[in-house]
Amino acid sequence: MKRFLLIYLLLTVRVTFAQTAVDVDKEFAFAAKQYALMLKSHPDTTRFPQSTKPDGTPDDRKSDWWCSGFFGGSLWHIYERTKDPMWKEAANKWTMAVAKEQYNTGTHDLGFMLFCPFGNGYRLTKNEAYPPILLTGAKSLSTRFDPKVGVIKSWNKFQTYDYPVIIDNMMNLEFLFWAAKRSGNKEFYNISVTHADNTIKNHYRPDYSSYHVICYNPDGTVAAKKTAQGYADNSAWARGQAWGLYGFTVMYRETKDKKYLEQARHIADFYLNHPNLPADKVPYWDFNAANIPNEERDASAAAITSAALLELCTYGGPSAKTYYQAAVKMLESLSSPAYKANLGENNNFILKHSVGHKPAKSEVDTPIIYADYYYLEALLRYDALRKKNAFRS
Ligand code: GLY
Repeated sequence: MKRFLLIYLLLTVRVTFAQTAVDVDKEFAFAAKQYALMLKSHPDTTRFPQSTKPDGTPDDRKSDWWCSGFFGGSLWHIYERTKDPMWKEAANKWTMAVAKEQYNTGTHDLGFMLFCPFGNGYRLTKNEAYPPILLTGAKSLSTRFDPKVGVIKSWNKFQTYDYPVIIDNMMNLEFLFWAAKRSGNKEFYNISVTHADNTIKNHYRPDYSSYHVICYNPDGTVAAKKTAQGYADNSAWARGQAWGLYGFTVMYRETKDKKYLEQARHIADFYLNHPNLPADKVPYWDFNAANIPNEERDASAAAITSAALLELCTYGGPSAKTYYQAAVKMLESLSSPAYKANLGENNNFILKHSVGHKPAKSEVDTPIIYADYYYLEALLRYDALRKKNAFRS
């Protein structure tokens, strides 16, 4: 009897330890089914899944839209998990569909457009067709860096300003670090560091929240501090905070300079301690939006933040476990029916409830492709940490 009791107790303890807040196998099984439907509804690689129009029909975009790389990137995430050649084939097809953007010097978004699909593809397959495309793209991106200003130009014009830089631009630097390593051209590395240093100096407020748009003069001085997608110039647009957090975490990974780690931690603390962050840790689209709690949530910001925190927590420090637990809570919320679609619904996107550009009334409370991309990335990161027992107490 005693032996049976002991076995029973041991089994119970094992089951308790094996239980996780988020079931990664289940979520990837769902993602694969949902994205198989997305592939079926998108036989033609000239129409990239982006979002849903106000009338409920799919909103697709061309390869020159800043989000064109996220679908291929998401397919690589599914391939990484499933190792099924079918996903590799689909990912390669949607990756190559963006290849012509390597020559695009009219946008700063080449990190998103090229590195998400080709970077993940190369990491997973070592397909030598990809690096030349990435290196041409990195050169195109670096044409937007003017050393006199010290930052990569985001848009060609914003209001009356000729050199606007958005916080989102921090997300392009990972691409340039890869290009520096691959080519041996230190210029790509130096551009990233200079851009990041000027972003700390000019984009961040004393409380470590970020402006969205900094408009520069030709000599590198600041002409204006603005917003485009946020509630107000002096507000904290949720996705902007997420881009900055992710970007400075990557800066630390690539340089090992502690000042970037400190910056990332301060941003994380601003975000996680904000009184307007809801209990499920999926933020309102702007932390200072006027009608909180009657404002839309932005699932994309939560997905990006979760992925970023799941890297930041690996760099130790007194808040590492807090970051991990917050990231898992975000994944738990996003994986719940409140944010995750049913199979075949939501125009075959995985997550509901993101906000693209509320002031322009565009993509408000809709699925958006990059929410899916960073959600899948965060799930992969979470699973890797869980397997290492990194934060089991
Ligand atoms: N890069 C634009 C956005 O985050 O909406």
